[in-house]
Amino acid sequence: MLTIEQLNTGYGKKQIVYDVSMNVSGGEIVSIIGPNGAGKSTILKAVAGIIKTWSGSIKLDSKEISNNSTHKNILSGLTYSPQGNIVFDELKVMENLELGGFHLEKKKLLERIDLVLEIYPILKKRLNQIAGTLSGGEQQMLALSRALIPEPKLLLLDEPSLGLAPNLVEEIFQKLKEINEEFSLPMFIVEQKVKEILKISDRVYSIKLGKNAFEGRADELSKDKLKELFL
Ligand SMILES: Nc1ncnc2c1ncn2[C@@H]1O[C@H](COP(=O)(O)OP(=O)(O)OP(=O)(O)O)[C@@H](O)[C@H]1O
Ligand SMILES: [Mg+2]
Repeated sequence: MLTIEQLNTGYGKKQIVYDVSMNVSGGEIVSIIGPNGAGKSTILKAVAGIIKTWSGSIKLDSKEISNNSTHKNILSGLTYSPQGNIVFDELKVMENLELGGFHLEKKKLLERIDLVLEIYPILKKRLNQIAGTLSGGEQQMLALSRALIPEPKLLLLDEPSLGLAPNLVEEIFQKLKEINEEFSLPMFIVEQKVKEILKISDRVYSIKLGKNAFEGRADELSKDKLKELFL
């Protein structure tokens, strides 16, 4: 479904990602872990079309998407929830949801909003609230809802646990797993909360200094191996 081959990218002239290859198949949850600054978010940004691919290829369902605009990617079924600063603070919850489906016709948009509100019912009571006044957990749910509105084929999530209390992390991840199973929706997730993300991941990649350092099934990662990857 998603295939990244020999990706090289960075910012300005500074290279951050070196020859990275990864893939996500239908229905899988695949996570990317690794130390701070390793280049995890940068990989996801290249896939989402936020930054340029210098060389290598990124394919969605065998179609080349590297250097496509984010807009075009959304239309081809790829949605992306970035790390931090995740909702439009000054807009209402409902307005945030509507923006997630800016390209849908009204009827479809309302159907999709109804569906995500079934998934995250707490947001139903908050539709007229200004998003910036939601709790951290509620903002994360809103960000995830917004990413689900376009009925994506693949969901890219950068640190969905950021800023959440430990008990909420497991709850948010469990919900992601349920969504993954119910809709056979593949997810490609960057995470720092290693123990928790491994529980819901089918496969995992680890990145070190911008390069592939490990790939395998989540249950193949021993404690010692993890330590080595984060040294
Ligand atoms: N917009 C930018 N301009 C220049 N350099 C950047 C930019 N964004 C990130 N970098 C640099 O690229 C490197 C990798 O950053 P990236 O955000 O991909 O790391 P990460 O693995 O996601 O880390 P974290 O776990 O802390 O989020 C870092 O050295 C960072 O300083
Ligand atoms: Mg990051």
